Amino acid sequence: MDINQKQIDAWNSETLPIYEPGLPEVVKECRGKNLFFSTAVDDEIEKADIIFISVNTPTKTKGIGAGRAANIKNCELCARQIAKVATSNKIVVEKSTVPVRTAQAIARVLKSNDKGLSFQVLSNPEFLAEGTAIDDLFAPDRVLIGGQQTPEGLAAAEKLVSVYANWVPRERILTTNLWSSELSKLVANAFLAQRVSSINSISALCEATGADVSEISRAVGMDDRIGKRFLQSSVGFGGSCFQKDILNLVYLCETFGLEECAHYWNQVVVMNDYQKKRFSEKVVGSMFNTVTGKKIAMLGYAFKKDTGDVRETPSMFVLRDLLQEGSRMHIYDPQVTRDDMWIEMDYTCGVNHDNTPGLDESVITETDAYSACDGAHAICILTEWDEFKTLDYEKIFKSMAKPAFIFDGRNILDHAALRKIGYEVHCIGKPDPTKFTDL
Ligand code: UGA
Repeated sequence: MDINQKQIDAWNSETLPIYEPGLPEVVKECRGKNLFFSTAVDDEIEKADIIFISVNTPTKTKGIGAGRAANIKNCELCARQIAKVATSNKIVVEKSTVPVRTAQAIARVLKSNDKGLSFQVLSNPEFLAEGTAIDDLFAPDRVLIGGQQTPEGLAAAEKLVSVYANWVPRERILTTNLWSSELSKLVANAFLAQRVSSINSISALCEATGADVSEISRAVGMDDRIGKRFLQSSVGFGGSCFQKDILNLVYLCETFGLEECAHYWNQVVVMNDYQKKRFSEKVVGSMFNTVTGKKIAMLGYAFKKDTGDVRETPSMFVLRDLLQEGSRMHIYDPQVTRDDMWIEMDYTCGVNHDNTPGLDESVITETDAYSACDGAHAICILTEWDEFKTLDYEKIFKSMAKPAFIFDGRNILDHAALRKIGYEVHCIGKPDPTKFTDL
């Protein structure tokens, strides 16, 4: 259910409102059988036994905790609506990512109904990642369900366990108390983001010393205690979750007077900002300290491959920085729409057509990589789309202004081959062979 008719119409159409591999197949198979999309919120609340609250909880933009605390307004509104229209007992599940102890607020709102109904609140955070959402759904590492440690709370949790147990092995379904479940979600994202910031901090050191960050990731990750995954150095992490959830965690720590803990986690975001800035500075610095009037091709705009999502995408910050330097930007991404680009740019960076004249002339969105690169002074790879690995870089080189620069913000290209063609290549955390030699 959603109150947005346009969204629901799209979910009921052949063109779903989001790009996610495997999703159209699942929707096609289930829609009209056991999957329905509707705006009839009140009717559906009445019929349901279990209601998932899956609304967004963005970082507050004003008021107390602005810029860090999560806004749970939408969760509260859902709870109020449920309390208002329900005519039978319900299990209400927090699916949205929320600050720890939000269940308490939801439970209080629900309990304020005067119809003598009983509601059980469960926490069931979502751990799927965009681009792999369907695989994550079918084979999750774990499902986490938090409930009140009372007979009623435990019974409600067991009911939800039995739903997941239809396809998830029982040993992968964890049950905890409410607060552990709520907090685990923030901590999981904080740990993942911390790994990216940790390896990105090392990438800067690699560039200064001649070490290779990919070799370091491999060497370090082969220690089972550390693990291989999430050690891919990049232009920085993006997406709607990592930064928001860490800032939420930072705010929680501050709220409880835990300044050192807050500072520790905030540093993950500081490092990410540094990495994005470092990339833009490297582009400008390498191109003789000026990109004014130069055409720069940006390949990839989504925050990661296999999604069209641009929320907090590192590309946006690089675009903003390079626009400020006066470059002409030509952007190609197979899934991102121009509208989404501008909406996010305005929301996050405050850059829009009203306060920044000439945006449409300085930023061209292209329908293929070759036209984006034609005549460009530089190529920036900002999303790791597979198709960028197999482009004809010889052909592209011939069409570019010389010297032709490539800045590989995802380390996905064959850098030696590109150098052989004649490109000046800059990557993340890898030695520039002209600067460093072996012993
Ligand atoms: C993340 C978590 O991985 C999910 O478990 C969680 O459910 C989700 O947030 C959420 O809270 O909704 P997501 O943001 O979709 O999922 O994408 P990730 O795969 O985690 O990637 C996040 C960012 O980190 C991307 O920009 C990605 O390119 C970057 N990243 C990831 C790296 O730069 N290096 C890596 O090694 C891994």
